[in-house]
Amino acid sequence: MRRRQVVALDGVSLDVWPGDRLGIVGESGSGKSTLARLLLALEDPDEGEVRFRGSPVRASCRAGLGALRRNVQIVFQDPLGSLDPRMRVGASIAEPLRSLGVEGDRDQRVAELLEAVGLPPGAARRYPHQLSGGQRQRVAIARALAPRPSVLVADEPVSSLDVSVRAQVLNLLDDLVERYGLTLVFISHDLGVVRHVADRVAVLYRGRIVEEGPADAVLGSPAHPYTQALLEAVPRVGGAITAPPAEACGRGRSPAGEAAGPLDGPGAGCDYSWRCPLAEARCARERPVLRGPGRPTDGPAGEHKAACHLAFGGRMAP
Ligand SMILES: Nc1ncnc2c1ncn2[C@@H]1O[C@H](COP(=O)(O)OP(=O)(O)O)[C@@H](O)[C@H]1O
Ligand SMILES: [Mg+2]
Repeated sequence: MRRRQVVALDGVSLDVWPGDRLGIVGESGSGKSTLARLLLALEDPDEGEVRFRGSPVRASCRAGLGALRRNVQIVFQDPLGSLDPRMRVGASIAEPLRSLGVEGDRDQRVAELLEAVGLPPGAARRYPHQLSGGQRQRVAIARALAPRPSVLVADEPVSSLDVSVRAQVLNLLDDLVERYGLTLVFISHDLGVVRHVADRVAVLYRGRIVEEGPADAVLGSPAHPYTQALLEAVPRVGGAITAPPAEACGRGRSPAGEAAGPLDGPGAGCDYSWRCPLAEARCARERPVLRGPGRPTDGPAGEHKAACHLAFGGRMAP
């Protein structure tokens, strides 16, 4: 039987600089968590590389991993899944300190962290199942911050939470990033949530970046039809962004109501062309490169870029 290769990410190139608040957005199955696992060197890419402070890091090679493990921490979507149910909260928060060999008074550090994430000191003696979803996510955040990382990767950190507590946890993340001068990589399927915390946004579609740039530009004047569709799907009440209902956060729904399936091998044209209301014959033939306005090539880092033949009002010359 011939096995079909699933390409979760293809041609993705991203720089994250100290102090960045990078939002990565895309529907379920677009490759966001795969990207997070690569950033944390939890797995290695088949091609390409991840560099931390200029040095290549590989999950399969211990050299260089120590600095990454200590400096880059992750908060996952489901705090229940990321916390050991048999461990008291205090022990859970202290555990990365122990495994990374961080010296100092661990009880004191746990107390500081509980305070930082807005939990009472008594929470240290509780078990995860005795806490609410929002409290558990606060514990997961405290645990991530324990080794004093410089980079925090948050993969759908509020998607499993009740709508009523999402804003609180987002505000907490926002405050902590500010307070500790963290670099943030914030991943979500929900542009409304990404808008809340990111100052730079990359939009993933089927394992490729289709748009990237300053949040104001990408969200204020989206250049790619996919980003436009994502923005139209963000619910608004009286102009304010509201979090979508929890059931909208499951797998497989997209702005066009299409189930996001696994990726086929690289096709010739734009992956979005078959869904795109603006597609022209060329879009199915030729894959557009990520480019800035008026430039046929990459354009400067940080510039607003899109991978669409029709982006920036231009029908690019062939
Ligand atoms: N372990 C795996 N084996 C095979 N395919 C996978 C695996 N993990 C993810 N994929 C596929 O890779 C693509 C990206 O998945 P993922 O990174 O989890 O997306 P997202 O986080 O954006 O929902 C999907 O098509 C998914 O089906
Ligand atoms: Mg994911």
